[in-house]
Amino acid sequence: MIANWKMHKTVDESRAFAREIVRRLGQATLPHQLIICPTAISLWAVGQELIGSSVMLGAQNLDLGREGALTGAISGYLLHEAGARWVIVGHSERRQFFGDSDALVGQKVAQAWESHLRPIACVGESRDDYREGRTISVITRQIEALLAEASPEALRTLIVAYEPVWAIGSGAVPDPVQANDLAALIRQMLAQKIPDDAPNIPVLYGGSVSSKNIQQFLRQPHIDGALVGGASLQVEEFLKMADIGS
Ligand code: PGA
Repeated sequence: MIANWKMHKTVDESRAFAREIVRRLGQATLPHQLIICPTAISLWAVGQELIGSSVMLGAQNLDLGREGALTGAISGYLLHEAGARWVIVGHSERRQFFGDSDALVGQKVAQAWESHLRPIACVGESRDDYREGRTISVITRQIEALLAEASPEALRTLIVAYEPVWAIGSGAVPDPVQANDLAALIRQMLAQKIPDDAPNIPVLYGGSVSSKNIQQFLRQPHIDGALVGGASLQVEEFLKMADIGS
């Protein structure tokens, strides 16, 4: 389960949340890997709290390149240095508000791998695409861009999150069986370039996941986990979704 905190929580709030999660986890053996993705500015502080726990740290975006005259940019190399081991790329909010194109998302997957980060690549159709029956063609186009830009080595480290844009933050979710079919399609497409590894690439579902509906997605054979936004911001809800008793 991946918690995407987006542009929420101060450094202090992020640190306190991580500390509480680690305390509540104790020695529990988790049924799933947990990854927390705070804002870039809280990465280091959260990473310090997670040392010695099984919870891992991820970033929400990376910029291309390693270092240089790129005002405001944060490279994968710097994210890794701050403690991140994962990075979300191609989230629909990046595509929508920051102009991340399909090709750039593919390049970011490649860059993540070069920076020793595992990329979590998001794909998903908009509400209009969904209404007009373009879901499969949109997903296909987005995955093809990853295949074109990233090497097999980079693709082998990938996690893919299927996130219908219309489900993000809306409270609406797709039929889990349909989400499962799309997860299967994504894996099939990855097999074009990494036939031996595609069956092991984790494919997650994301979009309005909460403790009330997470199980219906996790029960699907092609869905390996969840990428959670809003519901990951509260400790109790987070722990419920992660299947950890209080
Ligand atoms: P949500 O966001 O869980 O708040 O719908 C998910 C995401 O954007 O990754």
